[in-house]
This record gives sequence, C-alpha cells and structure tokens, in this order.
Amino acid sequence: MIEILEGFDLVDSLKFVSKKFPGKVVFSTSFGQEDQVITDAIFKNNINIKVFTLDTGRLFPETYELMDKTKARYKKSFETYFPENEKVETLVKEKGFNSFYESVENRKECCNIRKIIGLKRALKGNEVWITGLRAEQSENRSSMAIWEFDEGNNIHKFNPLVHWSASKMEEYLEENNVPQNVLHKKGFVSIGCQPCTRAIEVGEHPRAGRWWWEESQKECGLHAVK
Ligand code: ADX
Ligand code: SF4
Repeated sequence: MIEILEGFDLVDSLKFVSKKFPGKVVFSTSFGQEDQVITDAIFKNNINIKVFTLDTGRLFPETYELMDKTKARYKKSFETYFPENEKVETLVKEKGFNSFYESVENRKECCNIRKIIGLKRALKGNEVWITGLRAEQSENRSSMAIWEFDEGNNIHKFNPLVHWSASKMEEYLEENNVPQNVLHKKGFVSIGCQPCTRAIEVGEHPRAGRWWWEESQKECGLHAVK
C-alpha cells in the first residue's frame, strides 16, 4: 500500500483510497493549513470521503469563521463532533475552566474529554482515517508513514501529506486560493484550542505555540507517538 500511495499525487491517492474502501473513509480536519489542502482536494474533486471536525468548545473565533467560509466556498458540508455535555459539565464543576494549565495530567484529561471521545465516535464503523500530519512537524512525527495501522483506534491511517514540506503546502494553498485561518498572518502556525495555542516568534519550532508551558511531547492523544 505504501509503495502504491507514494507513487500517486494527492488527488489520485485520495481517489484510490476512497475507491478501495467505499463509504468507509473519513478525514479529520482542524482547519489548519495541511487540512485545508486536503479539504480542497476532496471537495473540488467530489471524492467520496466524509469530512469531520472535533469542536472542543474552546476554539478561536477565527477558526469558526474559517469553518463557515470553507463551507460556503466549496458548497459542501462536514460533520462537527462535540464533546459529551455531562463530561464537560463535571470537569468544569470539579476543576474549573482552565485546569489544563495546572498539570500535564489535567491537560490530557481535558483533551480526552473534548477531543478523543469525539474522535472515537467519528471513526466508528470506518476503515480509513485520513489526517493532515506531516513528518516535518515534529520529532515525534518524523518517522510516520503515508499508510499506517492505528492499533489504539483499530483503523488504517492515511497521511497523504506526510512527506510534504511547509513550502510545498504553502504553494498549493496560494495557487489554489484556498481559504485559510487569518491567525496565520499573525504568527500562529499550528492552531488548536484558544487557551492552549499562542503565536510563535521567527525561528521558533512550528509547534512551540502549542501547550507552550509544558515540557511534554506536545501531543493531545489524537495521534499515538512512538
Ligand atoms: S494535535 O494532535 O496537535 O491537535 P495537529 O493540530 O497537529 O494535531 O493536527 C494534526 C492532524 O490531527 C490534523 O491534520 C487533523 O487531521 C487532526 N486534528 C487535529 N485537531 C483536530 C480537530 N479539532 N478536529 C479534527 N481533526 C483534528
Ligand atoms: Fe482542553 Fe487545551 Fe486540550 Fe483544547 S487543547 S482540549 S482546551 S487541554
């Protein structure tokens, strides 16, 4: 599978996977730059891949604007998965609104409630999960392959941009006039939840703005790290 997929361009690889697993392919988007490349390819080419996002309830207003803009631009819709209300209510009642700053454990608890549980619902019944992961993004991600098996979620994982450089991605976005988050012009590179993301300085690591107060591997648990 890896060799086949590496021989295709982005659109052909998406078409190939969607035909091999009809109706069982989902793409998760956070509306970041990588995800907007994949969304553009899926929507413009009417590829049979279901698109979903996980709304943690703590996203930037600019991200919600981009969601609506993307929907309007392609005239296509996507699923939005919200966290379970009872779990969020209990978390906030017991630990307050910003418990994630207090410890890595608390932060992972919040990510679990606001993202991971929804991810599991979104992946259920599907055979392939497409992501916008790129190997270049971080040390943890450097050994990722274009096609993997995610044992934790029991699903094939297809990372079509795994070997793309940031400049290739930016060229694609520019050439195709793809809508982007206005925060990218304000120094934000990797964008997640508002309280857990900051802009970065020139020369800083692209993921330095995520959970910047932690010494952790800077992963929320969506993607298994080796
Ligand atoms: S994270 O693990 O640190 O949050 P990152 O922001 O780099 O992940 O995004 C990597 C990939 O994870 C994205 O390309 C997308 O496929 C998926 N992803 C991350 N956040 C979300 C989200 N809120 N909703 C859906 N998919 C997401
Ligand atoms: Fe909670 Fe922050 Fe994780 Fe978002 S990134 S789910 S706010 S800990």
